[in-house]
Amino acid sequence: MPRAHFAQPQLQLLMNALCRLVPALMQRATFIAATLLAPVAITAGEVEVLHYWTSGGEAKSVAELQVLMARRGHTWKDFTVAGGGGGKAMEVLKARVLAGQPPAAALIKGPTIQEWAELKALTHLDTMASFEKWDEVLPKVVADVMKHKGHYVAVPVNVHRVNWLWANTEVLRKAGVAAAPNSYDAFFAAADRIKAAGYIALAHGGQDWQDFTLFESIALGVGGADFYDKALVKLDRASLIGEDMRKVLQTFRRMKPYVDSQSSGRDWNATTDLVIRGKAGFQFMGDWAKGEFLAAGQTPGKEFICLSAPGTEQAYTFNVDSFAMFQLKGWEAQKAQGYLAYLLMGQEFQEKFNLRKGSIPVRLGLDMDKFDDCAKRSSQDFVRSAKTGALLPSVAHGMAVPPAAQAALRAAVAEFWNNDTITPQHTLAKLALVAAARAKQAL
Ligand code: GAL
Repeated sequence: MPRAHFAQPQLQLLMNALCRLVPALMQRATFIAATLLAPVAITAGEVEVLHYWTSGGEAKSVAELQVLMARRGHTWKDFTVAGGGGGKAMEVLKARVLAGQPPAAALIKGPTIQEWAELKALTHLDTMASFEKWDEVLPKVVADVMKHKGHYVAVPVNVHRVNWLWANTEVLRKAGVAAAPNSYDAFFAAADRIKAAGYIALAHGGQDWQDFTLFESIALGVGGADFYDKALVKLDRASLIGEDMRKVLQTFRRMKPYVDSQSSGRDWNATTDLVIRGKAGFQFMGDWAKGEFLAAGQTPGKEFICLSAPGTEQAYTFNVDSFAMFQLKGWEAQKAQGYLAYLLMGQEFQEKFNLRKGSIPVRLGLDMDKFDDCAKRSSQDFVRSAKTGALLPSVAHGMAVPPAAQAALRAAVAEFWNNDTITPQHTLAKLALVAAARAKQAL
């Protein structure tokens, strides 16, 4: 094993993995480690992690990670930038990296990972990935996102499903809504009943990323998987400005009378809280919302239910949280960073973390026994939709298109949502501009 092939943190991880996986090789591994790492003191390091998981359920999920890091003696330095969806966190991250002070790891997702890797800011994790068989234990659709030019530069921790509709069972019962709405006709009929019974029918937080979360689920339900893929992922002009998109915009606007007057600017978790406390009937949101219901002591199937957003039962919009690892100076820091990467992909962490976060483990083949019915369904639907071509990246959550294109789509949709005088025609014209810019590779 030529020494030059391994960066020191990777070597340390390799040794950890050897010791864990193949006890019979422990002596040999220790020997190699002692030989090659002899001049280096093996002590614990600090790992600074930028993330935006500040809600009740999210904080509990992160705490699981902190405990596991501490068990190995590493110190976790929290670098939180509040703001659902992570928009603010990404701005702060840019400032820190420009100042030459990157965190060890940052919660970065989808095509944004590629942008950081292009800047040569990220560290390669290939030795660990190959030793720990990441290519085998990750779905290909996920592994591809974690790699830049074939090198692993980020570590995935979960799969969130975005096309969910959450409902308070008591509110539905009191409003006389007997069946889960599986079409928009059924949804609006249920919403009318809930409103008439004196509740907020639709809990919605008026922030651009939440507007887009609602919008993309409607796009999937009204237009179907193929339309979603062509219009919102491929940014194909004809689909982006066609009749289906007009219907999507009309359905989106029909939601507005069901939203309460305090919606503007409200955080997603404060919005979920309206459903938790029985003030509102429904919320469209990814399954991080389930983390809030769970943190409030509620159980799926009892106080709340998870439904696929109307018309999307056969499809799945995915949102994979991942940590990109920045290049660091100093062996201690690198070692703690390497350990974090190793831990994040480990079975223990993936189970404990996802039980709280509302998502499912991204590692294939993990036992789902301890997970609730929403998670089990998500897991089965992920696999099934991958086979039928209905497994699609969430645009709202930065999985589908580069950040500039995402921002342009989001701005057009938020403008339409916030200003009732804007016509669908006007918004379709804005979407045409996005398609044109994308075609010229300007976005
Ligand atoms: C998503 C992220 C989730 C959750 C949510 C609210 O984009 O993937 O983990 O944090 O935003 O902030």
